[in-house]
Amino acid sequence: MSERVYIFDTTLRDGEQAAGASMTVEEKLVLARQLEKLGVDVIEAGFPVSSEGDFEAVRRIAEEVRGAEICGLCRTTVSDIDRAWEALKGGANPRLHLFIATSDIHLQKKLGKSREQVHEEAVLSIRHARRYTANVEFSCEDATRTDPEFLLAMVTAAVEAGARVVNIPDTVGYTVPEEYTEIITRLRKAVPGIDQVILSVHCHDDLGLAVANTLAGIQAGCRQVECTINGVGERAGNAALEEIVMALRTRRDQLHFETRIQTEQIYPTSRLVRKLTGFVVPPNKAVVGANAFAHQSGIHQDGVLKDKLTYEIMTPQSVGIPGNRLVLGKLSGRHAFKQRMEELGFDLSDEQFNTAFRRFKALADKKKEIFDEDLETLVMDQVLQIPRKYHLKYLNVTAGTEVMPAASVQLEIDGNPVRDAEFGDGPVDAAFKTITKLTGTKAKLLVFSVNAITGGTDAQGEVRVRVEEGGVEASGFGAHTDIIVASAKAYVDALNRLEYRKQNLEQVKKESL
Ligand code: KIV
Ligand code: ZN
Repeated sequence: MSERVYIFDTTLRDGEQAAGASMTVEEKLVLARQLEKLGVDVIEAGFPVSSEGDFEAVRRIAEEVRGAEICGLCRTTVSDIDRAWEALKGGANPRLHLFIATSDIHLQKKLGKSREQVHEEAVLSIRHARRYTANVEFSCEDATRTDPEFLLAMVTAAVEAGARVVNIPDTVGYTVPEEYTEIITRLRKAVPGIDQVILSVHCHDDLGLAVANTLAGIQAGCRQVECTINGVGERAGNAALEEIVMALRTRRDQLHFETRIQTEQIYPTSRLVRKLTGFVVPPNKAVVGANAFAHQSGIHQDGVLKDKLTYEIMTPQSVGIPGNRLVLGKLSGRHAFKQRMEELGFDLSDEQFNTAFRRFKALADKKKEIFDEDLETLVMDQVLQIPRKYHLKYLNVTAGTEVMPAASVQLEIDGNPVRDAEFGDGPVDAAFKTITKLTGTKAKLLVFSVNAITGGTDAQGEVRVRVEEGGVEASGFGAHTDIIVASAKAYVDALNRLEYRKQNLEQVKKESL
């Protein structure tokens, strides 16, 4: 008989803490809906007290996503807990997740608190959270570097105070499987009432051991796993959901556990996270990397042709990688397009489908072969549309070995056409300078990255930029067969998102006064 393991996804909280990963409220909602479809049990949607944007995202996700428990992180203070509850209270079965550091180094250097103070704070805060809900999780931050006796005392206190889930994080990715097994085994033996709570594992990947430590945690008795899609997260990231789930599924003979993950949704979810965070997945990444199912060497190819099982321990279909890589083009009809959309995990309304199909036809006129990546860009662009103040109407650049790069741009700002021209260090710089001048923005460009999203010289270039103004950040995407056009589109998109974010934050501030 297999035992059930609960999947707690923290892509929207710990994953979002990764440098440069932050998403808009709409993007977080799109991801939360996809996580629901994937079948995760808990979605940690954010840290509500940390910013107005996080508060709003948690509130909207709790209200709109009902197929998973929605969780909000808080420190062990009354104000954090009250704020988190304010965001979560509209949810179906919301969870308050409280944490405080327990290792001596964190106590002395970070918190400046004694063990007694931390112990008392934890107990009082769990009791306070319990006034709102019985669904309370407590985490001992840096548990794996905590004195074992004090960890025991903290977990005992958390159980007594009424936590339903107790998490033992390897916050700095320091532990090894044998040690983690010992920590969990000791707690299970020594803490009174431990059988009444769910023990949880939360591992970071600083030494590349996050998944191995997580599996050790499960085998030692943890029944909740905290993880992120593609392993995104602070520093080297968190344990990757797809690796844990597929390890449990593929090695059922060794690991007698089951989850409620719809594994066919893994690949679409991984692609969505890639798109939203802009973090490229390395080709050799387990389960979801582009080469995870590619067989290059002659001996391997020969083996796979004779019997897939010679070199394949799981099928690409089982993680949702579309079996036939049918390439769409100009002559492809609505039926083929619809089928591909469904295989990619897009659940479009009739109206969205019709618009997407029109955009697909327009792209197919410019580009011979349309790959999955092109389709994803096209749909994401459309689904994540926000109200736009700026529209790029016209762009002309001159560049080359003998000329000074220059750009001439026409924008529409709130419906009014404006036009100007500037020189630059290159054509992209010239285009950005002209757009900056026309919009009068003070935003700083933080990130500019270009990727060819498909092969060939007619490939679409995908540009991602990140801008910041007054502490508010926003990302923009642009895709086009001409990378200068893609860059200008991405920059205008980022400025629109920045504007939208600023307005939203002002609105949220007004509402919370
Ligand atoms: O890594 C960690 O310790 C955390 C806690 C807040 C659970 O993310
Ligand atoms: Zn963490």
